[in-house]
Amino acid sequence: MTRPFKAGITGTGRALPERRLTNKDLEKIVDTSDEWIIKRTGISERRILDEDMPLSHLASVAAKNAILDAGLEVSDIDLIIATTVTPDYLCPTLACSVQKEIGAEKAAAFDLNAACTGFIYALKAAEGLILSGAYNNVLIVSAEAMSRAVDFTDRKTCVLFGDGAGAAVISRVEDGTGIDKVNLGAVGQMGSVLTIPCLYITEEDKARRNEGMKQVVWMDGSEVFIFASRIMSEATLNILQETGTDISEIKYLFPHQDNIRILQNAAKRLEMPMDRIYSNLSMTGNISSASIPVCLNEAYEKNMLKKGDKLVLVAFGGGLTYGASLLTWSK
Ligand code: ACO
Repeated sequence: MTRPFKAGITGTGRALPERRLTNKDLEKIVDTSDEWIIKRTGISERRILDEDMPLSHLASVAAKNAILDAGLEVSDIDLIIATTVTPDYLCPTLACSVQKEIGAEKAAAFDLNAACTGFIYALKAAEGLILSGAYNNVLIVSAEAMSRAVDFTDRKTCVLFGDGAGAAVISRVEDGTGIDKVNLGAVGQMGSVLTIPCLYITEEDKARRNEGMKQVVWMDGSEVFIFASRIMSEATLNILQETGTDISEIKYLFPHQDNIRILQNAAKRLEMPMDRIYSNLSMTGNISSASIPVCLNEAYEKNMLKKGDKLVLVAFGGGLTYGASLLTWSK
């Protein structure tokens, strides 16, 4: 059935904490160096949420910015999907806390966890709910306080992550722009290469962490690196092939921001110049599911995006999960 409308991104917003943690600061905390971090990851600094600030506040600021950018009122939002691996509470969910803070009283609200792929998973959910006619305006808010889930004595992980929030409003669009396709995938078999335990932990995962450190990231960096380098280009090529789109038609690729070497590998495999691969990694580090919506909002603010531009969003993350979306920019 061909519908007279699609679902599209009609507004974006972001919020980053004020506090900066530079590589030089990290040199004072763990045995590392600015040179190593830049060379091996491309990261120079990351933002850190103050201890007394709930993540839901940062998420709410990003959410309000996105609603304003979409030209909507808070009361127009029918559903809030929050994506996070670092919620303040499991219950109430981050989505419910955002609903309360922004006053979106008529909105339903739920959290979705697909680790760093969260935004793309949420995009698929929002698209389906809009196409089915269930909702008109869905707010996705992707917010992470990764600094609360790392062990700052573990140099293999603490240099990689940062905090931040990005949001997008997904609504009906009737001018041919919008989301063309979203593909999702998961490889649960590989889940143990990247873990953040919650209420239960295996003996193996306990042994991988420092004494008393349960709810922190543990990662087999090289396994994740190999998976990421392959899947970022594979997922991109698959969605292009399935939609009959040539890579030359893509104005920008918006990849999950994890490691500049992973982005460079993707660029090489896709034969795409790095200036068409958006990256803010050096200033934010890896902010998990928040990275893509933060990048989209930044690029839009910098006037890099025009209505009708074809974009690919692509991510992978813990789970393991991955996903890609082809869209035609609607603003
Ligand atoms: N500073 C200095 N040396 C370090 C540091 C550091 N911060 N971290 C590791 N090293 C050392 C290691 O101990 C090792 O030393 P050794 O040879 O004496 O044992 C050496 O550097 C090389 O270590 P590798 O792990 O081989 O380093 P690599 O070049 O692979 O980089 C990294 C490690 C950056 C983690 C890389 O593997 C990576 O980026 N992996 C992907 C991670 C990722 O993208 N995660 C995102 C998913 S997160 C999510 O979805 C929630």
